[in-house]
This record gives sequence, C-alpha cells and structure tokens, in this order.
Amino acid sequence: MTLLTIDHDKCKKDGLCALDCPVGLIRMDTEGDGFPVEVAGAESACLKCGHCMAVCPHGALTLDRYPGDAFPEIDKELTVGTAQAIQFLRTRRSIRHYKDRPVEKATIESLIQVARYAPTAGNSQSVQWTVFTNPPDLKTIAQQTIDCLRDIVETQPTGTYPPYFPLILAGWDMGVDTVLRGAPALLVASAPQENLSGLVDVTLALSYLELVAVPMGLGTCWVGLVRRALTMWKPIQETIDLPQGHVHFYPMMLGHPQFRYHRLPERREPTINWR
Ligand SMILES: Cc1cc2nc3c(=O)[nH]c(=O)nc-3n(C[C@H](O)[C@H](O)[C@H](O)COP(=O)(O)O)c2cc1C
Repeated sequence: MTLLTIDHDKCKKDGLCALDCPVGLIRMDTEGDGFPVEVAGAESACLKCGHCMAVCPHGALTLDRYPGDAFPEIDKELTVGTAQAIQFLRTRRSIRHYKDRPVEKATIESLIQVARYAPTAGNSQSVQWTVFTNPPDLKTIAQQTIDCLRDIVETQPTGTYPPYFPLILAGWDMGVDTVLRGAPALLVASAPQENLSGLVDVTLALSYLELVAVPMGLGTCWVGLVRRALTMWKPIQETIDLPQGHVHFYPMMLGHPQFRYHRLPERREPTINWR
C-alpha cells in the first residue's frame, strides 16, 4: 500500500511536505531523483492530518486515502483580519434566554460539520454527538436533572453542594425552566474512554461549535447542572444514552438568543509566567 502519490511534473522538490509532516513520514530522495518519498511503515504511522497535501503550494501531492477534491484551496477572499477575529471571539456570549423557536436538524448538523475541524489529539477524530431536539425529551432531561438536585439537597449536608441548588429547585417549582432555560436543543459531545485525550477533544469540539454558532444567529451555553446529573443519576444516564464506554463533559444548550449584546465585556488581565 502506498500513502502518497507525487506528481513529478508539478513537484518543485521544495521539501515542504517532508518538513511539515508531524511524524516524519516523508523524506526527500536526495540520493535518487530528489522527489519526496514515503519512509518504510508510513502507511500505518500516518496521522491522516493532511498537512503534507495542504502545505504543498503546487498541488503536487495526493494522499491516496483522500479523494482529490477533499482539499479545496483556501479562498483568500474569506481571510479574516486580526481585528475582525478578535472582535468575533469577544462577541460570543453564553446564552441563557432563548426564543421559542426550534433549531432545524440541518442547522445543527452544519454546526457539527464545522466542529469536526477542531483539533483532536493525534488527529483521532473520535468525538460523537448525541443531540436532543424533541421538546418532551428536553423536558424529561430537565426534570431528571431536577430530581437529581433535589435528591442531593435532601440527602447531603448543606455546604457539600452549591448554595444555588435550592434556588434552582424553587424556580423550577414555580414553573421556570431553570435547567435548560427553554433551549430548543441540547447537544452532548462524547468520546471513547480509550482516547486518553477524549475530554480535551470533546471540549475543543464544543468550543468550535459555540463559536461558529454566533455568525449563524445561534447561541449556546454549557450546562453544568445536566453534567452533574449525568455523572451520578441513572435515569438521566438512561435518557441521554451516550454511546457505551464514552466520556463526556458539559452538555451544551443551543437555540436562538432572545437578546442582542451591544458591548464587549472586559475580563481579568491574563497572568503570564514568563520563564
Ligand atoms: C466548562 C464551562 C462550564 C460552564 N457551566 C455553566 C453552567 O453550568 N451554567 C451556566 O449558566 N453557564 C456556564 N458556563 C458559562 C460561563 O458561566 C461563562 O462562560 C462565563 O460566565 C463568561 O461569560 P461568557 O461566556 O458570556 O463570556 C460554563 C462555561 C464553561 C466554559
């Protein structure tokens, strides 16, 4: 099996593919014709990250596992300037009030399609998504979270749980959705526990998703309460029904934000320990 095909008419022997391969699977055949060649065992060691193909300015290299059109050229018209990028990143807000409007499955899928480009350790790409959009299911998840919190408040000594738990329960009892805040969708990203960096991969995927949601007119928020319940409460574990042996982090609510934000909130100055 080969890993790469080099188009000798296009290749300029600049060695970029060899230099940029993160695991050193390409060498320049300096004792032969000078073209890049794969090293022994490259096929099984390849991370499939595509750096070699993406870095080649001449389109001379094809990874045999990818179709030719899998690597579109970067559209320079779409390049984001630094100021736009910074404002964009500062514009994302945690959304806790949603319009009473569903989010189409196709829209959720398009968010997930972007989230799959988040970095994953070793390019493992093992994150999976469990998505809820049916109002009765969302109601069940919120109710089961409340059941879990109530059990904690009634059975654990005060001080062992956050002081706002009784407020969450009181609000719920008054008919306010203090868990999912009326969000029309809930996403749970998970990864196989064999993936030792699974939780990091999951978190990064969620971060990509919450960022790309903004220009699509959507908002998200991490849901600690559901996470707490999901780690310890059997009924909600059965409802959410993650793939067997998967680890998860915070579920994320998604919906159309009810409010607009007009200013960029300030954050604490970073602590940088220069060494
Ligand atoms: C890991 C994580 C967990 C969070 N959990 C919750 C949560 O349980 N409930 C909530 O309302 N917000 C939660 N948030 C949102 C934070 O409160 C929010 O990011 C922070 O207050 C800053 O506000 P901003 O996201 O609008 O910039 C969480 C955020 C992160 C990153």
